[in-house]
Formats: sequence, structure tokens, C-alpha cells
Amino acid sequence: MSRAGIDAIEIWTGKLQLDLPRTFAPVKGSDPQKYLKGIGIEYSSLPDVYEDIVTMGANAAKQLLDKEELAPADIGRIDVATESSFDNSKPVSTYIAGCLESVYESNFTHANKGERKFACLSGTQAIDDAYNWIQAGRHRGKPALVIATDTALYERGDPGEATQGAGAIAMLIDEDPDIVSISHSQGYGSADETDFLKPNQQFPSVDGKRSVQVYLARMREALADYESVAGKTHPDAFAAVPFHTPFPGMVRKAALLGYRHTIRNTDIEDDLASDIGTQPRRNEFDSNSEFDAEMRTYMDGLKQTEAYQEWYADRIEPTIQFARQVGNWYTGSVHIARYSALHSAATAGDSLSGEQLLVGSYGSGAEAEIHVETVQPNWKSAIESVTFAESLASRYDLSFEEYERIHDVHNAQKETEVEPFTNPDGEFIFTGWGRMNERRYEYRPRQSGNAS
Ligand code: HMG
Repeated sequence: MSRAGIDAIEIWTGKLQLDLPRTFAPVKGSDPQKYLKGIGIEYSSLPDVYEDIVTMGANAAKQLLDKEELAPADIGRIDVATESSFDNSKPVSTYIAGCLESVYESNFTHANKGERKFACLSGTQAIDDAYNWIQAGRHRGKPALVIATDTALYERGDPGEATQGAGAIAMLIDEDPDIVSISHSQGYGSADETDFLKPNQQFPSVDGKRSVQVYLARMREALADYESVAGKTHPDAFAAVPFHTPFPGMVRKAALLGYRHTIRNTDIEDDLASDIGTQPRRNEFDSNSEFDAEMRTYMDGLKQTEAYQEWYADRIEPTIQFARQVGNWYTGSVHIARYSALHSAATAGDSLSGEQLLVGSYGSGAEAEIHVETVQPNWKSAIESVTFAESLASRYDLSFEEYERIHDVHNAQKETEVEPFTNPDGEFIFTGWGRMNERRYEYRPRQSGNAS
């Protein structure tokens, strides 16, 4: 079996930003620390008037193709993962391919195209599809283009409004990848759940508090399932643990649970025993409530230990740096978390080649997936070539009143005319609807004088 995985990435953020502690909190009458510390998001990325899942996906993909000096003829398949689709038949990948074909000489006629749906999990599932396609030898030597693109918007006033985000990540999945290779082993935790769903509606119906519990339960099952095929994991075996990040506060909960699970019956559990005791085992208790109470006490102690805090600072904190700046990108979120960890290591000058990442993906409805990735020798230059930090810094900062208008612009139930806040410059834009209610796009060339 050959090595296959992520060879290159590019990221496109929605061009607007909402400052949660300084712009959103005062209007909501809430403490800015709720966003900075509790939820953990400082800015949400939002799309400008002329942006949507197609433009963001096509823009990320064009940056990727240009950087890798590839043309449509070189790509074997295009899979788009999204939960913000606007068509139940025609996949977003055909729109994105159409955009790209309008600016390159070759086309994607030969390429298999699809759209993957399983809430936020489908970005990882689309990578799986590409990985399997390569391993089956059906790829004719060509890489797959996987694009995760979403406008993660909630109903105004929903508690989820503080976790919104919009952006796309384009990933090239190939043999002998430059960034990470993907493990053959995987673990799953899957159940029929209704805590977050969009039954033919744009904005989700959400039971936020329950969704947190469902996420944790499925993630725990996926880890146990992964260990049943790959053997016991140890927290120090991984250089970073990127999780699906709807908001960094969620990862704080998942990380503690994961640490507790992976230290069980290890030297770390033994070393901590004199401080906080050993972990309660369910079979030692007569009732679940007694066990749960004991476990809560153990977790409260564990969270305070130096061992856990150091592990969290090293392996988790670097994965959530960009989520703090952009919010939830749904299908792209776990892939931003991986990028965040690698970007942070590259900036710190860490040597990661050959190190492993434990990646925890999740989608409501619900399913978690765990696999391991191995960082490849060329990872650093591949990560340093991504231009995400620059585009984040140039987002337009919305006032609250402007935020209300842009939310209405992207609300399919409303007709709102608003002038764009930014100027398109070397990018695809949405231009309106065609004869069959299809969405229409065009490329706006870069203004002369601006760097390419
Ligand atoms: P909320 O109820 O407004 O917030 O919304 P809260 O009161 O629970 O506060 C959030 C945290 O801030 C808490 O931390 C507070 O203590 C803390 P915790 O106790 O949980 O650790 N806090 C403060 N900290 C410091 N200073 C303060 C302060 N005030 C409060 N002054 C909720 C939270 C998650 C319900 C909401 O954001 C929501 O509904 N979000 C959408 C659903 C969601 O993201 N769920 C996550 C799991 S499901 C998932 O990940 C899938 C998803 O990505 C979709 C998909 O798969 O397609 C969503």
C-alpha cells in the first residue's frame, strides 16, 4: 500500500470580520470574556455580498492550483464537502469546476465530481474517498482536489450566533504527500442524533447544550474504536491533536476527556495518583450516579495538574489559534485545526518530520472519526507557502449595524440590497441568478499595481 495524504493546501477566509468581544458583546449585553475565554472566539469570518461557498471554494482552489503549477487537466477528481449547499441535485463541485475552467486553458471533463454531506464530518469523509480512490489504484496517477467550504450562519439571536464563520480550505490529496500521510486504521463513533440539523432550511435547529454532550460521547466511542484496531494510544505519542473545533471551548472539554482516556493504565496515571488518586473504574461502583460524581471530582483534579496543563499547552493550544480568529467553518474546521498546529510549529522552528497527529473529526447527526497522520519531510515549506495569515489581517471589520445587514444579505428568506464592503481583486464573485435559477459567477482580474 502506498503512502497517501495531504500534499498541499490553500485557505480562503470570508472577507469580513465580526469582533465578538468589542462589537457583538456590548449589543448583546454580555461580558466580552464569555467570547474571549469561555467560547474562545475573538473574530468570526463572514462572507461579503459577492461571496458564497462557490466563490470561497473556487478562490481557495485557484490559489492551490497556481501555487502547485497545476491545471484542470492534472486533477483526477473534485470532491466538495459542505453543509451550506443551495441545490439538491447539481453539486457545488460542478460550479467550482466551471469557475476554474473559465480561467484555465484545460478543463475537468475527465474528472469525477461529487458533493459530500455529513455535517462537519464530510470534509474528512471526502479526504477518505480520495484516499481510497488512490489506494485502489483508480486515480491514473492524478491527485484529487478536496474542498471544504461553508457559510456557518445561525438564526439571529440563537446562542450559536457567537460561533459563526465562513471560509474554505482546498486540499490536494495525493501519493507521496508533502504535508501528512494518513493512517490506514480509523475509528468511528456514530449514532442517530437530532441535536443539530437543517431539515430543508438554511439555518440549523440546534440544541446547543445537548450538542456538546453528543460530540463528547461520539468522540469517546471513536477513540475506543480506533484503539480496538490500532492498539492503545498514549497522549505523548502525538505532536498535536487537532479536533473539530466548533469553538475552542468545545475542544477544551474534548481534550480533557481524551487525556483522561489515554492516560488510563499508563505511567502518567500512576505518577498523578499521589496528587489526585487513580481514575474511578465503573465496575467498582454500585450506581452510575456515584461513579459519575467520583469521575467529576477526578476530572476537576486532573484539569489542574501540571502534567495536563503542559500537555494541553503543547498539543492542543496550537490547534485552536486560527479558530479563535475565524469561528466555526463546519466542514473545514478540523482541517484549519491541523493547519493551525503545523503553522504554529513552523513559526516556532519545531522539527515535526516523522511525528504523528491524532485527528478527531466530528459531524452532528452524529458521527466522530479518529485517525492518525504522519508529518512528512517537506511539511514546513508546504505550510509556509500558505497565505492565510495575510488574508485574515486584511478582513473588513464590521460595525454591529453592518453585521445585521450582511446577515440579512445571506439569509435566503430575505431580499436585501447592500453595497459590498470590500473590492473583489483577482477572485471569483457571485453575480446573480440565471434563467433556470442557477447561480452565476465571474472572475474579477487582479487590479494592476496589486501584488499577485
Ligand atoms: P451559550 O449557552 O450562550 O454559552 O452558548 P454558555 O453560557 O454555555 O457559555 C459558554 C462558555 O463560556 C461556558 O464555558 C461558560 O462558563 C463560559 P463552560 O462552562 O462550558 O466551560 N463563560 C464565561 N467564561 C469567562 N467569562 C465569562 C463567561 N461567561 C460564560 N464572563 C453553546 C454555548 C455551545 C450552547 C452555543 O454556542 C451553541 O449553541 N453553539 C452551536 C452548537 C455547537 O457549536 N455545538 C458544539 C458541538 S456540536 C458540533 O461541533 C457540530 C457543529 O459544528 C455542526 C456540524 O457538525 O455540522 C456545530
